[in-house]
Amino acid sequence: MSFVELQGLEKVFPDGTRAVNRIDLAIEEGELIVLLGPSGCGKTTTLRMLAGLERATAGKVMLGGRDVTDLPPSRRDVGFVFQFYALYPHMTVRENIAFPLECAGAPRGEREHAVQRVAERLELEPLLDRKPRALSGGDQQRVALARAMVRRPAIYLMDEPLGTLDADRRLEMCEFIRSQQQELRVTTVYVTHDQEEAMRLADRIVVMSEGDIMQAGPPAEVYDQPASRFVANFVGSPGMNMIFGSVDTEGRAFQPDGLDVAVPLAAPAPHGPARLGIRPEFARLDADGPIRGDVVVDEYLGADRCLHVQTEVGRLIVRGGPDEPDRVGATVAIALDPEHVRVFDAATGLRTA
Ligand SMILES: Nc1ncnc2c1ncn2[C@@H]1O[C@H](COP(=O)(O)OP(=O)(O)OP(=O)(O)O)[C@@H](O)[C@H]1O
Ligand SMILES: [Mg+2]
Repeated sequence: MSFVELQGLEKVFPDGTRAVNRIDLAIEEGELIVLLGPSGCGKTTTLRMLAGLERATAGKVMLGGRDVTDLPPSRRDVGFVFQFYALYPHMTVRENIAFPLECAGAPRGEREHAVQRVAERLELEPLLDRKPRALSGGDQQRVALARAMVRRPAIYLMDEPLGTLDADRRLEMCEFIRSQQQELRVTTVYVTHDQEEAMRLADRIVVMSEGDIMQAGPPAEVYDQPASRFVANFVGSPGMNMIFGSVDTEGRAFQPDGLDVAVPLAAPAPHGPARLGIRPEFARLDADGPIRGDVVVDEYLGADRCLHVQTEVGRLIVRGGPDEPDRVGATVAIALDPEHVRVFDAATGLRTA
């Protein structure tokens, strides 16, 4: 049995909203799992059921081999960081961070040592004697993170803990959470709607949509072999290019609608209407490429650039090098890297090759 198991877990709110749809998920001890999905897909509700803050309407939560479905949060040994930080306003930062240890009955010396250590790591030392109201939103969020991470519970549950931080701090905090995780190996479930943050942090990403799990896998797998068009589009910035067309009877070539030339497939796909998916970095400018079009937007992004090309098969985004000239208005030809062509069923959206 895995360390955490969600078995057919469901949440239907009293008003009839189906927030989580009988999901199954197994998490190994020490894993850092990121629940990723758009707003309203059920991430927070799933996490709250794991914590015991929300009652499941069906299914089970197993934690460390115990059925905790009906246990209150206090009996689950979870460390929780909320989407909206909730610090105790009458306590100083130091007291806030020490609070979980005090509740656990840790002796004073141990508390001080642990608070010092986490405050150092999160650069909170200058703020230790302030009250929360004298802190910026970002600082309060870091204190909330410190308060959760000062203790070693069986599992950390984090709901968009970096939400209000600015970009630099987010990167720093991601690094902190990741290094902490690698050091202590406390099983962690982390919620975000930011796919880049998910990629940066996760051992495995669990992509959710409308209360269902669409795919669970390591970041590279979710990115390179998305289970569906939804995942292909949601993960990656920009998402995967999609071309309408159909797979031939042998299943070895994709015929884009509106193009004379077919695209050979490295892996066979079922015959019929489909979409060809290709990541922008695997669609290359190549004078001999089969797809022609005009560059309508050329975005310079520092490390690379994104060319938006209006072609016979629709708008495609091609990733180019930073040193290439601005090509707006130019006519270009595009070749697709056959190894990285993906095929999705037109009706179900599921990947077939
Ligand atoms: N107490 C509630 N009563 C009724 N519906 C609710 C309740 N809490 C959440 N919902 C609904 O359940 C669905 C899932 O909500 P949830 O908060 O889990 O989404 P989320 O993925 O965390 O979204 P976000 O990224 O915006 O935080 C949404 O449709 C939401 O409106
Ligand atoms: Mg949420």
